[in-house]
Amino acid sequence: MLSWTVLTLAATVSRVAAGPCDIYSSGGTPCVAAHSTTRALYDNYSGSLYQVLRGSDNATADIKPLSTGGVANAATQDNFCKGSTCLISIIYDQSGRGNHLTQAPPGGAASGPNSNGYDYLAGALGAPVMLNGQKVYGVFISPYTGYRNDKPNGIATGDEPEGIYAVFDGTHYNTGCCFDYGNAETSATDTGNGHMEAIYFGTGDGSGRGIGSGSGPWIMADLENGLFSGVDPISNPADPTITSRFVTAIVKGEPNQWAIRGGDATSGSLSTYYSGVRPANGYNPMSKEGAILLGIGGDNSNHAQGTFYEGVMTSGYPSDATENSVQSDIVSAKYAATASLTSGPTINVGAKIAFRVTTPNYTNRYIAHTGDTVNTQAVSSESIASLQLQASWTVRTGLGNSACVSFESMDTPGSFIRHSSYQLMVNANDGTKLFAEDATFCPQAGINGEGTSFRSWSYPARYFRHYNGLLYIAGNSGPHAFDNPASFNDDASFVVSTSFA
Ligand SMILES: *[C@@H]1O[C@H](CO)[C@@H](O)[C@H](O)[C@H]1NC(C)=O
Ligand SMILES: *[C@@H]1O[C@H](CO)[C@@H](O)[C@H](O)[C@H]1NC(C)=O
Ligand SMILES: *[C@@H]1O[C@H](CO)[C@@H](O)[C@H](O)[C@H]1NC(C)=O
Repeated sequence: MLSWTVLTLAATVSRVAAGPCDIYSSGGTPCVAAHSTTRALYDNYSGSLYQVLRGSDNATADIKPLSTGGVANAATQDNFCKGSTCLISIIYDQSGRGNHLTQAPPGGAASGPNSNGYDYLAGALGAPVMLNGQKVYGVFISPYTGYRNDKPNGIATGDEPEGIYAVFDGTHYNTGCCFDYGNAETSATDTGNGHMEAIYFGTGDGSGRGIGSGSGPWIMADLENGLFSGVDPISNPADPTITSRFVTAIVKGEPNQWAIRGGDATSGSLSTYYSGVRPANGYNPMSKEGAILLGIGGDNSNHAQGTFYEGVMTSGYPSDATENSVQSDIVSAKYAATASLTSGPTINVGAKIAFRVTTPNYTNRYIAHTGDTVNTQAVSSESIASLQLQASWTVRTGLGNSACVSFESMDTPGSFIRHSSYQLMVNANDGTKLFAEDATFCPQAGINGEGTSFRSWSYPARYFRHYNGLLYIAGNSGPHAFDNPASFNDDASFVVSTSFA
């Protein structure tokens, strides 16, 4: 009798521990793509979750779960990337179908900034979070960053049913098109209405026809040539503005029926924001093509930002009950925003500082500004007072994220270092969301082993870097002259000291 009880308990425990794809499988709608940099989405998965690419030598490393079915082994990434920069180069498919996501190619609407027209890869440090007390990394999508698979295996096509869920950062979004995860064109061009079925998250207005209630961000569906919160052309007041730090977002569709669902990924249950017929004019029947994308629109529209932690696509239209069990599993994974975005020497808010260059032969130079332009200048305690002030900065709480910092000019109060077209400028704070984000930098231990490197919060593959006497946010080996890999680590590392003035 006792052993029978133990067996029953064990069975109960293992059912509770089932991953999202085990739950979809039990519901008769198995995953045909499963992507996550944070954890295994099957109880039995022990393969690679994602790959990182190191800037110093272009070597790669695969990141696996700590244990079968467990969370990502982020220490592998941290050790491999120490003393360099790293990008997320592959997000592996856990479903066994080989539906991996890699750097998105150029599309009909836009080419990426790289010389081959591909989009950027995400910086590997942009989205640290805790999962049940373990640090892991999400995929922080900056504008011009995208992942895609145009040769998928087993993803819904035509009017076939499918379900999609994803966990996003509810506080990282913009209005640019289109932070999507889901089903898109295999040609990376706009082939017409109904050729996509993807989750969209952000404040895009769907050309004025798709919005929910409040000012957004909203979970909507990108069905191509429209972001839909319900049925065109009516905006849907039941599609709420999302306010939680972590959000579970769902879009699913079957012949002349589709739904949007969502909830807080850390507690509670899912709500249905729309469930009903397809929009008119080319969306019934659907013409899905089955490619998979992340962070971009179907035609590679690449102006959006957002953060992805995990997501899947299924074969078949999942029941609400199945999705509700998946939500319980997500909640039990315990996402928390307590992972530090910074590392290295302490830099206190309120401190008055100077930044000294560490590149050999330039170590008498400091970050200063001449008018709007941030540059390096030779500065010392013998310099005239005005130059000393130009090289002196007050550390402020990050305008765009309070876990990082901003730098206010000491001779131009109210003006901050911000990036604009990748160049660092000193501009007056205009109070916009864009300014706040462009003026926010996350200090980390100096990449060359000395001092501190300053990672752009909004473009975390990019760092303060001096190049020909000017300051940029630069990536190692990116498409711009200032991304030149030669002396990158030294040029991107600074010693912080007390300010001159
Ligand atoms: C892993 O689990 C899934 C569903 O939960 C099942 O379909 C698959 O066969 C399992 N794989 C192995 C190798 O046991
Ligand atoms: C890494 O690859 C890129 C793109 O092919 C190239 O530009 C860069 O020089 C390489 N870096 C190193 C250190 O080999
Ligand atoms: C530093 O300058 C000296 C002489 O001006 C030169 O010989 C040396 O190569 C320079 N070192 C570097 C790392 O540029």
